[in-house]
Amino acid sequence: MLKINILDLLNTFESIGIRKGDTLLVHSSLSSFGYVEGGTQTVIEALLASVGISGNVFVPTLTGKPSDGPTNPPVFDVKKSPCWTGRIPSEFMKLPDAKRSLHPTHSVAGIGPLVDYLIKGHEDSLTPCGKDSPYIKIAEIGGYILLLGVTMDSNTTIHSAEELANVSYHLQKEKAECTIIDHSGNILKRKLYLHRWGTPRYFQKIEEPLENLHILTQTRCGNSVIRLIKSMPMIEWLYKKLIQNPEYLIKES
Ligand SMILES: CC(C)(COP(=O)(O)OP(=O)(O)OC[C@H]1O[C@@H](n2cnc3c(N)ncnc32)[C@H](O)[C@@H]1OP(=O)(O)O)[C@@H](O)C(=O)NCCC(=O)NCCS
Repeated sequence: MLKINILDLLNTFESIGIRKGDTLLVHSSLSSFGYVEGGTQTVIEALLASVGISGNVFVPTLTGKPSDGPTNPPVFDVKKSPCWTGRIPSEFMKLPDAKRSLHPTHSVAGIGPLVDYLIKGHEDSLTPCGKDSPYIKIAEIGGYILLLGVTMDSNTTIHSAEELANVSYHLQKEKAECTIIDHSGNILKRKLYLHRWGTPRYFQKIEEPLENLHILTQTRCGNSVIRLIKSMPMIEWLYKKLIQNPEYLIKES
């Protein structure tokens, strides 16, 4: 099996354009590379080294499920709730320096000097990826989305554009009263609009236009396709598309 080490990862991140001080939101598949020497720890080390101490690395630590809703509101414990976004986020969020946001379904965890600012108040964001969420705040500071061996289907920030454009299919119509257990064990209650599951979308269709506009760059590392996306230009471009046609992302049956 193809073997990848930390130098391969560092070279890949440098060649795709990641620099010291950058802010990344990283969606990942560890197995996509082939065999990574040192596994999850090596990928995390390479990410943190690439942005340096002045940069910020985030991972999605999502916990939402299709049964969440007003009659079955989620209970989220920031210290204990496991995420379903893979082994790299699961290990990353347990690191001593990592801080996790308090959103009951769409939390993120980050390491870096701006993390406190970027995760602050996520639990008060009325919609999971809306204006007060880290997804948009990362974009506002010039951040990137980094896809490691996963496709646009894993790009949560696409939902930010859907929320800003107020498309009708993306969120539940009624708020759910969610329970959040914070880092000190305090129980918080928040009434929030939750993700509505079940509308098939075709996110991959935005890859080619974003590449043509130089908003997305891709390369390979081992067997893995690596995509780096400028977050705010993607949101702005997609927002315009969705305002013109709210069904732009919906998969034709
Ligand atoms: C679901 C998903 C995580 C599965 O990817 P994956 O590569 O199979 O799984 P992980 O990233 O969790 O990595 C674990 C796997 O890596 C492999 N692995 C273990 N050690 C490894 C190593 N050193 N090197 C390479 N692969 C290794 C194993 O197959 C392991 O699977 P196992 O736990 O069943 O044994 C991925 O496809 C995905 O969707 N990621 C993005 C999620 C996301 O951000 N979603 C947002 C939605 S809006």
